[in-house]
Amino acid sequence: MIGCGSALMSEDMVDDGYMEIVNIDISSVVIEIMRKKHFDIPQLQYMQMDVRDMSIFSDESFDCAIDKGTLDSLMITYGDPSVRVRHLNQPGCNWKIVLYILPRPGFNGKTKRSVVDPVPMTESGRLPDGFVPEDPDSHYIYVCKKLQGTTGTSSPTIHHVDTQDTSE
Ligand SMILES: C[S@@+](CC[C@H](N)C(=O)[O-])C[C@H]1O[C@@H](n2cnc3c(N)ncnc32)[C@H](O)[C@@H]1O
Repeated sequence: MIGCGSALMSEDMVDDGYMEIVNIDISSVVIEIMRKKHFDIPQLQYMQMDVRDMSIFSDESFDCAIDKGTLDSLMITYGDPSVRVRHLNQPGCNWKIVLYILPRPGFNGKTKRSVVDPVPMTESGRLPDGFVPEDPDSHYIYVCKKLQGTTGTSSPTIHHVDTQDTSE
């Protein structure tokens, strides 16, 4: 969990059966607080670290990395695909990227689509023509899976939308 802060998510994941979660955050204060809070949960480790240098870990140490809000704070942007995708989708990042858009908790409006269905987008992060998230403050979730067999030389792929992308 990169940039774990004081969120409950890691604790909830242990309740869901996850066995080993390494939580890092740049703030020594938050790491100390979380270590004390969860001293009795052996599945949770806390380490003070800058996410931009995780060289202490060897390659393939983790099954997955979860970021909830950390890139937002590092980049001072919201996770809108038109802004975010170009950062995820760069040479050396050999991803298949799938996007989900979720209304924020407590949103009272109607959601016409199932939120567990991925939202297609172009390589520059453009959503399908006419697609407007029901909630303007929606959360954007990017599931980035490393493609096997190549290491950073080919372009990442995206869950495509079949329209011509003229934005870049
Ligand atoms: C918006 S908060 C999100 C916290 C938590 N993930 C959550 O969902 O509530 C961003 C977190 O990223 C941490 N952070 C910011 N820059 C970081 C960096 N370079 N390396 C590690 N953590 C960082 C901050 O200390 C903060 O806890």
